[in-house]
Amino acid sequence: MNTAVEVKNVTMKFNMSKEKIDSIKEYFVKLVKGNLLYTEFTALDSVSFDVKKGEVFGIVGLNGSGKSTLLKVVSGILKPSTGQAKVFGNISPLIELGAGFDPDLTARENIYLNGYVLGHTKKYIDEKFDSIVEFAELEEFLDVPIKNFSSGMVARLGFSIATIVKPDILIVDEILSVGDYKFQEKCEKRIKEMMAGGTTVIIVSHSITQIERLCNTVLWLEKGKMKMIGDTNEVCNAYRNGN
Ligand SMILES: Nc1ncnc2c1ncn2[C@@H]1O[C@H](COP(=O)(O)OP(=O)(O)OP(=O)(O)O)[C@@H](O)[C@H]1O
Ligand SMILES: [Mg+2]
Repeated sequence: MNTAVEVKNVTMKFNMSKEKIDSIKEYFVKLVKGNLLYTEFTALDSVSFDVKKGEVFGIVGLNGSGKSTLLKVVSGILKPSTGQAKVFGNISPLIELGAGFDPDLTARENIYLNGYVLGHTKKYIDEKFDSIVEFAELEEFLDVPIKNFSSGMVARLGFSIATIVKPDILIVDEILSVGDYKFQEKCEKRIKEMMAGGTTVIIVSHSITQIERLCNTVLWLEKGKMKMIGDTNEVCNAYRNGN
């Protein structure tokens, strides 16, 4: 079997409140009367594609085009309104900065917490602990609560934990872009090593040059629809030129 991710006809609709409601009281009055008005918003519209094993698949598109929503559907965090996303192998999603971290716990405690959430034993995390910390370059901050970390530091720790395990499929949403250029280089190097080891990567980035350096195939989303999919250079050039 050559497919890592299979997305079939995924449509995602959200309910959005149509009117401005000024108070909780007004909200409940409307709720009880049953005249709370919603409009349906289609964040993803019939999206279908396959990602092959070992491929690095990029997703580009303007703000609000549905990229993060699509990654959440692939990771199983959101259930699509219609259609389905199938994943073959274990998946390590890095979607929201700091997701899976407890801000009040220290970096050390969060490494264990995150490791347990990912299904590892204490012994396994003990073994990997030093290399996680080393890659994140956070040796001096191990006993500092995460809430006092900068966003780049949180991203380092998240990426380091998510990739120490060598997942079959790695999903990266914009996380790399908050790291400094040195850390971005390190992340790209690790992603390339993982590719060499057969890991499939799906990456969302507003840095087109980063997408061009890393990806084999790119999907361009526009207002929830697939505008173009195919060879990285072709799609990135069209996206840059806006057609
Ligand atoms: N839980 C939700 N409820 C309602 N609307 C949502 C929800 N999540 C996303 N949306 C809407 O879906 C659309 C797509 O959002 P999404 O976060 O997927 O965009 P994006 O392409 O990741 O944008 P960005 O480049 O800014 O990260 C947006 O209009 C957003 O407001
Ligand atoms: Mg997003």
